[in-house]
Amino acid sequence: MTLFTVIGNPVAHSLSPQIHQLFAQQFGIELRYTRTLSAPEQFDRTVREFFRAGGTGANITVPFKQDAVALCSELSKRAQAAGAVNTMQARANGELYGDNTDGAGLVSDLTHQVGQLAAARVVIVGAGGATRGVLLPLLEAGVVEIVIANRTVDHALALRDHFATAYNAPITAIALNQLTPEQCHQAIIVNATSTAWSGEPLAINHACFAQARWVYDMNYGAQPTAFLQQAMQAGAPQCSDGLGMLVEQAALSFSLWHAGLMPATQLVLQQLRQNLG
Ligand code: ATR
Repeated sequence: MTLFTVIGNPVAHSLSPQIHQLFAQQFGIELRYTRTLSAPEQFDRTVREFFRAGGTGANITVPFKQDAVALCSELSKRAQAAGAVNTMQARANGELYGDNTDGAGLVSDLTHQVGQLAAARVVIVGAGGATRGVLLPLLEAGVVEIVIANRTVDHALALRDHFATAYNAPITAIALNQLTPEQCHQAIIVNATSTAWSGEPLAINHACFAQARWVYDMNYGAQPTAFLQQAMQAGAPQCSDGLGMLVEQAALSFSLWHAGLMPATQLVLQQLRQNLG
C-alpha cells in the first residue's frame, strides 16, 4: 500500500487525510495517509525519515512550505514562482520533486464558483507567502490585472517588482488603506492575509466590498471568517471561503501522485462542508 503524509505544525486538524481517502475511494485505490507533526528544527529530518521509510508523497503545510524548497532536487515552474512547495514526490532514484498546487487550486475553485478567469480583475489582500503562492497560476489563467493591497506597502511593492521583472506581469501594488472602490469595481477580492481568525477588522475601505464581483477568503471554517463577515456586512454581492481551494489543491496533488488520475471534487467538498458544520 502506498504511504502519504501531511507535515506541518500544527497539523492535528488537517483535513488532508480525509480528503485523500475520499479521492482514493473514487478509484478503488487503497492508500495510507497520515499526519506528521514536526518541530521547526526537525523539519528536514522529518521529511527524510518519511521518504526513507517508503513514503510516496507528502503535503507540506504551515510553516514549512518555504523550507521544503531546499529539500527538492527539482521544482515545478509554479513551485519556483511561489518560492514554496506544498507537494513532494519521491523519485525512483530517491530524489524529491517539489510542486505547489495552491495557486492552481485557487484558480480551479474560482473557476467553479465565479466562472472563467480570463479577463477577470483580481485584488489580493496581503503580500506574504500565501499571495506569492498564487500569483503565477492566476496570471496563467488569463487574469488581466492583479492589485496587491497590503498593510505594509513595501511588501506589496517587492512582490510586484519581482513578478513584473520575472514574468512581465500586470500587477499594481498599493497600501491596503489606500485601496479604492474604483479599483475593486467588478473585481474578485481575495483575502490572503493571516488574519482570518483574529477578529480584528482589516483597515480596508468598506465601500470596496460592495463594488466587488466576488469576495473570497483563502481561509475557511465552520463559521464565516472575520474577513467574510466584514465583506457581507458591507454589502458584498457574493462571498466564499477557501474550503474549495483546499479540496482543489489536494486533487492536483493526488493527480501528481497517481499518474494523472484526477478525482471529482464537488461531492468531496459538499461532504467536508457538512462535516465542518
Ligand atoms: P503567509 O505565509 O500566510 O502569507 P506571511 O508571509 O507572514 O504569512 O504574511 C502575512 C500577511 O498577512 C502579510 O501580508 C501581512 O501584512 P504585512 O506585510 O503588513 O505584515 C498580513 N497581515 C497580518 N496581520 C495583518 C493585519 N492585522 N492587518 C492587515 N494585514 C495583516
